[in-house]
Amino acid sequence: MRLDKYLSESTPYSRKEIKILAGKGAICVNGTIVKKSDVQVTEQDEITVNGEKIFYRKFIYLMMNKPAGYLSATWDDKDPVVVDLLSEEYKHFEPFPAGRLDKDTEGLLLLTNDGQFDHAVTSPRKNVVKRYFARLDAPAEFNDIAAFRAGMDLGDFIAKPADLEITEKPCEVFVEVSEGKFHQVKRMCEKVGKNVLYLKRLSIGELVLDPALEPGKVRELTPEEIEAFMK
Ligand code: URA
Repeated sequence: MRLDKYLSESTPYSRKEIKILAGKGAICVNGTIVKKSDVQVTEQDEITVNGEKIFYRKFIYLMMNKPAGYLSATWDDKDPVVVDLLSEEYKHFEPFPAGRLDKDTEGLLLLTNDGQFDHAVTSPRKNVVKRYFARLDAPAEFNDIAAFRAGMDLGDFIAKPADLEITEKPCEVFVEVSEGKFHQVKRMCEKVGKNVLYLKRLSIGELVLDPALEPGKVRELTPEEIEAFMK
């Protein structure tokens, strides 16, 4: 492929900027300065910009610790969206959320520009289990565990059986669901007479929210983490 295509897909630089960088002698292919950005390169070539090695990649896979107050969207005309929290380094890949969290929900959110990965994470057929921590306005009761386990009629759909785990503080619970319907956890809790005051997603399948990630921060998934969803 052309050098400017390779670099514009793998870095935040536009083709125009790459042309200027090449003209300045900032780009090397296999150790040799290349002054023209339309030369042909392959993924096997070693390409550097200002001495930094650039690996070719088309797709990006990010784990975000979503803060409250952001919509799980790429754009909105009034509210801030999770993509606003990304640096240019990631934004230029045009990632979108793979699955959604409500505006006031925190925790693990995945972003990608790979449709296949999005499908692997969100398709109802894949039955990926999502684990949440919830704080309720009233103590959860043992009967609620059975109600969650039985599957719940939520009016417009019947929720599949889910797990409710009551902690030492009965207003604090863990919920595991294998679907991702709109407001699902909140609606299931409401169905047993409790309002969710705080909600945080802790894991999606085997993938646990990285405890080192501050709210609003992202890190790339490892190849093993990506593979775990694709298999
Ligand atoms: N269930 C909800 O009610 N809200 C979320 O954000 C995620 C799951």
